[in-house]
Formats: sequence, C-alpha cells, structure tokens
Amino acid sequence: MTMSLGRRHVLAGLAGAPLAAAGPAAWAQGGLPLLTVWRDPNCGCCGGWLAHMRTAGFPVQDNVVPSPAPARRMLGIPADLLSCHAAQVGGFALEGHVPAAAVKRLLAERPAGVRGLAVPGMPLGSPGMEVPGQAPDTYDVIAFDAGQGRSIFMRFRGGEPI
Ligand code: CU
Ligand code: CU
Repeated sequence: MTMSLGRRHVLAGLAGAPLAAAGPAAWAQGGLPLLTVWRDPNCGCCGGWLAHMRTAGFPVQDNVVPSPAPARRMLGIPADLLSCHAAQVGGFALEGHVPAAAVKRLLAERPAGVRGLAVPGMPLGSPGMEVPGQAPDTYDVIAFDAGQGRSIFMRFRGGEPI
C-alpha cells in the first residue's frame, strides 16, 4: 500500500511537470512560443543567435548537445540546408542564423506546406554572425517543405530585410 501510494505521487509529479514547463513561461513574452534550440558547445555564433532571439522576445530552451544531428533528423531539416544549430518553434523547424523577423512572419502567416526555415552556411552579418568593420552579406531565408520543395521566404542584408 505504501509503495503504491508513493508510486502514485511520483506519477502525479511527472504528469504535472510538462504542463508547468509549457505554461505561462512558454507564452510569457508577447505571445511568442517557446524556442527550443540544439547547439554544439564549441560554437560561439550559436550563442549570438540565441541572444538575438531572446532580445526579440522568444522564451528559449537551450540544449547544448554533442551534435545537433539527431535533432535535425527529428525535425526533418534537409541535409543541403545545413548551418550550425537546429531549433523548433511553434511546430516549425529552424536551421542556422534565421533572423527573428523571419521567424515572427512565419508564425504569423503559417504558410501551407512549410516545415521550416533555414539560412544555410553562416552568412556574415546574419544575427550572431556580425563582425565589426566587415560589410554584411546578402542572403536568403529558405522555406522548405517535407520533400524537395524550397522557396525564398525572405532576403536580408545583415539583420535588415531587403
Ligand atoms: Cu553559426
Ligand atoms: Cu549556431
């Protein structure tokens, strides 16, 4: 009897935990959903991107992992769009230094068929990739679907949409 009671307490505790984690904290700031990130411990620019997303109002769950590859497989991020970190927000996948403005537009529009956004590589001047004194690159934010579909979702120069 004692054991079964104890067990019930443990189960109740476990059942309650995810609700608490996904509750007010996840939606606290401006209605933005929780941004879950998987990143390599040795990558400094990932931390720069996280700071950019936090500044933009996203609550962040930061997972420092030996490799983001398992998370990428789980999220369905295409191998040809790789950058340095993977993330999930509002049911969408993100890869690389995607500017917060593009993520907010994605969440507002929720375009049909789009699985996520990627900024392949690490363009100079993208959020977290700023180098003082160096002119920012022009780069595309790519929307991808569950298959081979790709489209240009937005274009940026540094942190500014163009
Ligand atoms: Cu990076
Ligand atoms: Cu990164």
